[in-house]
Amino acid sequence: MIVELPAHPEYQPPGSFAGPDHPMRKLTRAMAFGEPWTSHDAERVATIFDGLAAEWSERHVDLTKAAPVLDAIERGRPPLDASWIELGSGTGAGTRLLDGLARQQISVDLSEQMLAHAPSGLAPKVRADSSRLPFAADSADVILLINMLLFPNEVDRVLRPGGHVVWVNTLGDQTPIHLLPADVAVALPGDWIGVASQAGTGLWAVLERG
Ligand SMILES: C[S@@+](CC[C@H](N)C(=O)[O-])C[C@H]1O[C@@H](n2cnc3c(N)ncnc32)[C@H](O)[C@@H]1O
Repeated sequence: MIVELPAHPEYQPPGSFAGPDHPMRKLTRAMAFGEPWTSHDAERVATIFDGLAAEWSERHVDLTKAAPVLDAIERGRPPLDASWIELGSGTGAGTRLLDGLARQQISVDLSEQMLAHAPSGLAPKVRADSSRLPFAADSADVILLINMLLFPNEVDRVLRPGGHVVWVNTLGDQTPIHLLPADVAVALPGDWIGVASQAGTGLWAVLERG
């Protein structure tokens, strides 16, 4: 069961951006609900984000993006004295926010250029495909995904028993890579409980195995 908390007092609904027919929305649902992710998909997505990296590093790290992440940490209460792995870390919005909060963090992304534009010295940067992570089973306490595709089986494998998933869409249901918290809980293997809410212009959920 996911308990929906009241929206943060400063929450503002996002403007119209990416509706259900957006190609990334379709890809996000397909990956979450078991369609195969091919090397062609990985190359295509890496190429897209390689091309966006320079602009992304200048325009996409802002307070509005921070608001749902920080609210998830404050009210969702994932453990901070813990090892975090962020999937799809991009140019480092999450990395910067977690620095000094999480005991340990690793930033993972498929795109070489997104990682190249991410800050150095805050967290190890790992170029990897989140459908095949180079980490041992049960090696993360918390997995963070900000506007990132969900590969449920890999999240399940790498997250230790009792671990937490932090899911953030910074434009709520207008985010190109979007799933509702309830859909995330259904897509992940096993039973999940947690809390969800809205902050900034986004939504978040902090889930743990029930
Ligand atoms: C929409 S961007 C979000 C970046 C960052 N989290 C942010 O909010 O600024 C999605 C990121 O996920 C990465 N990504 C997409 N598919 C991936 C995969 N299979 N494995 C790892 N990273 C992936 C992309 O390269 C991109 O950096």
